[in-house]
Amino acid sequence: VGGSSGIGLAAARQLTSAGHQVVITGRDQDKLAAAVKELGDTAGGAAVDAHDEAATQEFFASLGEIDHVVIAATGVTITAPFQGVNKESVLAANGKLVAHVIAVQGALQVLRPAGSITFITAVSAGSAMPGTAAPAAVNGAIEAMVPVLAVELAPIRVNAVSPGVVDTAWWDFLDADTKARTFAGFAAITPVRRVGKPEDIADAITFLVRNTFTTGVVLRVDGGARLTPPSTLPG
Ligand SMILES: NC(=O)c1ccc[n+]([C@@H]2O[C@H](COP(=O)([O-])OP(=O)(O)OC[C@H]3O[C@@H](n4cnc5c(N)ncnc54)[C@H](OP(=O)(O)O)[C@@H]3O)[C@@H](O)[C@H]2O)c1
Repeated sequence: VGGSSGIGLAAARQLTSAGHQVVITGRDQDKLAAAVKELGDTAGGAAVDAHDEAATQEFFASLGEIDHVVIAATGVTITAPFQGVNKESVLAANGKLVAHVIAVQGALQVLRPAGSITFITAVSAGSAMPGTAAPAAVNGAIEAMVPVLAVELAPIRVNAVSPGVVDTAWWDFLDADTKARTFAGFAAITPVRRVGKPEDIADAITFLVRNTFTTGVVLRVDGGARLTPPSTLPG
């Protein structure tokens, strides 16, 4: 879910290469079609908005039984000083939680008991970065569901990957120069001294999908970003 670009597409590439039959979703038809073409003959795709409960239920029902679901849909990210966060921006940011819940409920109709659910959350949950209260709350909420669902939905396994800053289209709201400066700033204060690539996160997703002894885990793949004191983070 949310597999037509960035982290979701990188995971789809790896899982396809590992022999899985993958079906990806996204809202933009053209982007989806290009991604499916790149993945090759075994892959499928469907334009489904993960906020649309009926369409999501219908999509999963159309697949028949599935083994795994990976949820990488984004929400609207509001980065602003807390005094500037209002009811509308909180509800908009909350779209990511809503999409993840709707996707799981759709998938549960067809997910095999030996299967898995993998959420993609974010470094904002738990990194104490000023200006990120809304995304921290939303990603923290998804991470809080992981152990609950790992027990409630067992034997289905439930995990999350919590990425740091990753070079994807998610950052395209910045112009090229600002993006390069922002990434250089994050790289400088990240212990591994670089921002992530979608493949870094896809490796972790593939591990969680394939390792049948791992459940209830939020796997941080952030280059050590959470270890950096918030006062040194770029503004
Ligand atoms: N990039 C980062 O620095 C970073 C850091 C931490 C966490 N994350 C998280 O990683 C996840 C993937 O982000 P990304 O960086 O790979 O961004 P991306 O390249 O923009 O990919 C987002 C994917 O989700 C799809 N999508 C978005 N909203 C959707 C919806 N309502 N229904 C169905 N599909 C939807 C997009 O396609 P359409 O737009 O066509 O729908 C696209 O395929 C997100 O949850 C993001 O919050 C990213």
